[in-house]
Amino acid sequence: MLLIRKLWVIQKTLKTMLDLNQFSHSHDSLEIIHRGHLSCVRKTFHSDLERAQRNVAKQRQFRPIYTGTAKVAAAEVIEFHMRSDSAELLMPYIEGITGHMFPVHATRNVAHTLSASLSTLLYAELTESREALVETSLFRDKLSSVSEATQDLALKQLVDNCTAVVDRFPAELLMPIGPCHGDLTLSNLILDPASGITLIDFLETFLETPLQDVAKLKQDFVYGWSFRKDPPALVIKAEILCHHHLPQAIVQIERMYPDQVRLLTMMTLARIAPYVTDSVTQRWLVRSLTDCLGATPQ
Ligand SMILES: Nc1ncnc2c1ncn2[C@@H]1O[C@H](COP(=O)(O)OP(=O)(O)O)[C@@H](O)[C@H]1O
Ligand SMILES: [Mg+2]
Repeated sequence: MLLIRKLWVIQKTLKTMLDLNQFSHSHDSLEIIHRGHLSCVRKTFHSDLERAQRNVAKQRQFRPIYTGTAKVAAAEVIEFHMRSDSAELLMPYIEGITGHMFPVHATRNVAHTLSASLSTLLYAELTESREALVETSLFRDKLSSVSEATQDLALKQLVDNCTAVVDRFPAELLMPIGPCHGDLTLSNLILDPASGITLIDFLETFLETPLQDVAKLKQDFVYGWSFRKDPPALVIKAEILCHHHLPQAIVQIERMYPDQVRLLTMMTLARIAPYVTDSVTQRWLVRSLTDCLGATPQ
C-alpha cells in the first residue's frame, strides 16, 4: 500500500515538473513527449489555426546565425499538422534558461551571452531589411481598437494619450521593413549560457520590421515585463543586469530610428492593455506607459 502511494507521489511530482503549461502565455497547450532518446515539446493550437500555420512557417524559415561569440537559431520544426479544430507543432525540447528564470540563473556571463546574441540577431534582421515609408494612420487605427477593447479606465486614458502622440507624428515615417521574430520577449527564447539562443513562438505582426523586436526587447530590458511578478530581490538583480547588458544593437538602432522605436515601444505596451487581469500587471503597465509617453517629445 505504502509502495503504491509512493509511486503515485513520484508520478504526480514528475507530471508537475513536466507541465510546461504553467509557463504558457496563451490558450495553446504544451506537452512533453518522448520519442526514443529525444524529448520533444508538442504545442497544440486551438484557435486561429491559419495564423498558427503562418507563425510556424516563420519559425521554419529562420536561418541560423553564427558569429564568433553568439549563435541564434530557431527551434527545429520536427512536425506540423493541421486538423479540423486544432493544429500541432512538434519541436525538440531545448535545454536552457528562459523567461522569468533569467534573474534566478543570471550571472554577468549569462547576461553577456544573451546581450551579444540578441545584438547579432537584430543586426542580421536590419541587414536584410529595406527602408520604406509607413503611414502613421496604421498605428492610430490599431490604437483606437486597443482603446475600444480596454476596460480599465486608467489604462484606456493612457492608450488615448498614445493616440494623441501619434497625431503629432508626420503622416508617414521611414522604417526598415524586413524580418522579425514578432514577439521577442524573454519567454520566447531559450538561452544556453555557453553558446547562444534558440527562438520559439514566432508571431506574424501587423508590420514586419526589426523595430518590433527592438520594442519587445525594450519591454523586458527597460521596463522589466518578464520580471514584474518576481520577488523584489530578483527584480533588483534583473534590473541591474538589464541596465548593464542592454544589447548594443538596441542603442544603435534607437539612434538611427528614434521616433519609430518610440512609436513601436508605445504600441507594444499599449496593446497589453485589453488583456490585463491582475493588479500587478495593471500597475506595471500604468508605470511603463507613463514613462514611455514622458519620453516622447510633446
Ligand atoms: N521547445 C521547447 N523547449 C523547451 N521549452 C519550451 C519549448 N517550447 C516551449 N517551451 C517552454 O514553454 C513556454 C511557453 O511556450 P510558448 O511556445 O512560448 O507558448 P505560449 O504561446 O503560451 O507563449 C516557454 O516560455 C518555455 O518555457
Ligand atoms: Mg510564448
